[in-house]
Amino acid sequence: MPDAVVVRVDPEPIHTASAPDTWWRHAVIYQIYPRSWADSDGDGIGDLPGITERLEYLARLGVDAVWLSPFYVSPQNDGGYDVADYRDVDPVFGRLEDADKLIATAHDYGLRIIIDLVPNHSSSEHPWFQAAVRAAPGGRERARYIFRDGKGASGELPPNNWLSNFGGPGWTRVTEADGRLGQWYLHIFDVTQPDFDWNNDEVQAEMEAVMRFWLDRGIDGFRIDVAHGLVKRAGLPDGVTRQQPTGEPTSSQPMWDQPGVHDIYRSWRRLLNSYNASGPDAEIADEDRILCAEAWVHPPEALARYVRPDELHQSFNFDFLLAPWLAPELREVIEHTLRVADHVGAPQTWVLSNHDVVRYATRLGYPARAGLLRLSGIGADDPQPDAALGLRRARAAAAVMLALPGSCYLYQGEELGLPDATQLPDEVRQDPTWRRSGYTQRGRDGCRVPLPWLADSPSYGFGPSARSWLPQPPSFRELAVDQQDGVHGSTLELYRAYLSARREHGLGHGGLYRVDGYPDDVLALVNAPADNDRLILILANLGPDPVPLPKDAQIIVASNPLTDDGRVPTDVAVWAALAPAI
Ligand code: GLC
Repeated sequence: MPDAVVVRVDPEPIHTASAPDTWWRHAVIYQIYPRSWADSDGDGIGDLPGITERLEYLARLGVDAVWLSPFYVSPQNDGGYDVADYRDVDPVFGRLEDADKLIATAHDYGLRIIIDLVPNHSSSEHPWFQAAVRAAPGGRERARYIFRDGKGASGELPPNNWLSNFGGPGWTRVTEADGRLGQWYLHIFDVTQPDFDWNNDEVQAEMEAVMRFWLDRGIDGFRIDVAHGLVKRAGLPDGVTRQQPTGEPTSSQPMWDQPGVHDIYRSWRRLLNSYNASGPDAEIADEDRILCAEAWVHPPEALARYVRPDELHQSFNFDFLLAPWLAPELREVIEHTLRVADHVGAPQTWVLSNHDVVRYATRLGYPARAGLLRLSGIGADDPQPDAALGLRRARAAAAVMLALPGSCYLYQGEELGLPDATQLPDEVRQDPTWRRSGYTQRGRDGCRVPLPWLADSPSYGFGPSARSWLPQPPSFRELAVDQQDGVHGSTLELYRAYLSARREHGLGHGGLYRVDGYPDDVLALVNAPADNDRLILILANLGPDPVPLPKDAQIIVASNPLTDDGRVPTDVAVWAALAPAI
């Protein structure tokens, strides 16, 4: 590679710039897993008052909104994704008044609040399910869930071959009032998470009432849990068994991505529009309340159906999360998913980590493809990641994501460069995946460990006591907020710089262009705001050799230091302003 590079910006945009006036089209949204963010009362479990006390931290970080994983009343068999009462707060997290205070305080800071809606299933402790088990087969109570007679001479076999996502069968048999084994109920997740029957009018009406309950309390939107799972194929046919990326078999198809889900989302969009003062067709939609799908749907064309203009606002781009750290594949995913979303007029919604996957600072600490195989949790006896490599790449990956047009979701602690806890003792694991998989899949506890705030306090400042519902690894000490705050070069300061530059340069609503002139293992793109007076080069070097920047490029931010002669080393990403004439 020569000392300076002459780049050519492709005049044909991958994506065209848009107006900045619709907040959710370019927002940065921070996910809080309430159990693990901040504990106000010292019981070792995070809570709503803990969040409210520290919202200033998020305002200073520079995010636009917060998504809270569930805090509803729940036996917590799946970290709160097993809801027993959708209209109240679990005592472990506080009270309803605490939710109100959190919402109001967030709004005072200019932060929007998105909460999790769990419509696919309830907890088995939900009064509806309790009533369903007590009721006779065929009645109204059972019709809200998916109860079926078993196969075999005496109904001893499950109604079909569907598996639970957490391992084991997807059906469990109940004992009827007369003491005999009776019908089976479907649970795509844990045995304590019975699936609702979305053909049932009462289910539909109840969930819309729940949405109104929270919208009336002032929340700004919902993240929809398992959005691709609500409707099952009529007749509940057997599924085809497939391998997951983790190597686990999963029966697929008939419970995922059925056309009927789109009718539900059209109805929900009408509901949301009734709250949006500006209405569906207004030019200024800055007050919009939104819906974001968690839909593990592939290909992107199928995912785009969830964000058609009369359906949901956003849908996580999991193809991006799943892409290996290889420039050609990242380039392909970015370009293709943007084009597909553009086709339906939706923004792209980028994400790299969440509470269900191994944090990317850890995944990227493995060879490019091996990281993906570790998506479902790492134990002490597994190969361990190269932490320094993972952090270096994670800082670069964040630069790529945060420079892209569309909305971005951050997962709590990624701004600190937190890795997964990869050496948790198996006895402390709480994710039902570990048990239900017959102790073969470690599950998701490693990414859910409570955050470190203060290096020299008990529980690293997570709460006022030494308690922490999962043990924090010693590596969290030097990553604590107080070790990074104000420290030049820290990951926290780097994220603050990314977010402020993203806002200043309007990257979230810029146009995106391909750049020629670099080798294939260098990801090079240009983001240009609508007026095109500044071109921002995004360059991530995933190749083996340092690469030069174009002449006169002015660096805005770099994920790690450049070489002494100003080249971009391996696994470093840079944003740099280019002269418009290039
Ligand atoms: C979603 C959640 C996950 C939960 C599952 C069942 O995938 O993100 O945490 O276990 O749904 O509700």
